[in-house]
Amino acid sequence: MTRRPLIAGNWKMNGLAADGTALASTLAGKMKGGSDHPFNMLVCPPFPLIGKVVDAVAGSGIAVGGQDCHMAEKGAHTGDTSAWILKDAGCDYVIVGHSERRTDHAETDETVKAKAEAALAAGLRVIVCIGETLQQREAGQTLEVNRSQFQGSLPDGATPENTVIAYEPVWAIGTGLTATPGQAQDVHAAIRAEIKGKLGDAAAEGMRVLYGGSMNPGNARELIGQPDIDGGLIGGAALKADDFWGIAESC
Ligand code: PGA
Repeated sequence: MTRRPLIAGNWKMNGLAADGTALASTLAGKMKGGSDHPFNMLVCPPFPLIGKVVDAVAGSGIAVGGQDCHMAEKGAHTGDTSAWILKDAGCDYVIVGHSERRTDHAETDETVKAKAEAALAAGLRVIVCIGETLQQREAGQTLEVNRSQFQGSLPDGATPENTVIAYEPVWAIGTGLTATPGQAQDVHAAIRAEIKGKLGDAAAEGMRVLYGGSMNPGNARELIGQPDIDGGLIGGAALKADDFWGIAESC
């Protein structure tokens, strides 16, 4: 297995410039303090902090990403940001289809796919989020929901190099409820089977599938230790350098 874990921090709508730059600088210091880390690290700050965070992590190997992008390259879309603008600002990645975007902004799989394709066209790597709600899990629809979101949201042209999938059970996000390693592994294995069916053996072997939902330094090792879990998309615990670094160290 050659997949290198990705430890990705989704800061959401948190942090002012001083907080974000301090967090990014601390992480950059920890990264530079060692060599041959067995993981890749990514931070996704709010849009206005991207430039400052790019400067703060320069030379550390930490990548910076956006939390969303528009599907168009440019134009009359007040308040939106394009993948090309993110790329120009120094981003390497963008998250699309987070459940908070799907809920707050009524994003459909079709929207998410179009955004992911814009990201790839702009030369970004994309993290495509999928995940079931509690109601769907209780109704026994977990695998079906994740399969259908995967199929509907995966960008054309996806490869293991340019696309990462994040499985984030909605009921586990910011709630302190984490999927058990077994629950998460079951879904990750099903997603990998979908990747195989759609893109073939090599892509299934190489594409990273992250877990997200109340990951913390206490539960990360067991989650990331599952055969089909290739890192984490981390919200709350990504806002504290020691917690985020602790998760990375569990790799
Ligand atoms: P959480 O968020 O770690 O705070 O649960 C994860 C996410 O929404 O990406």
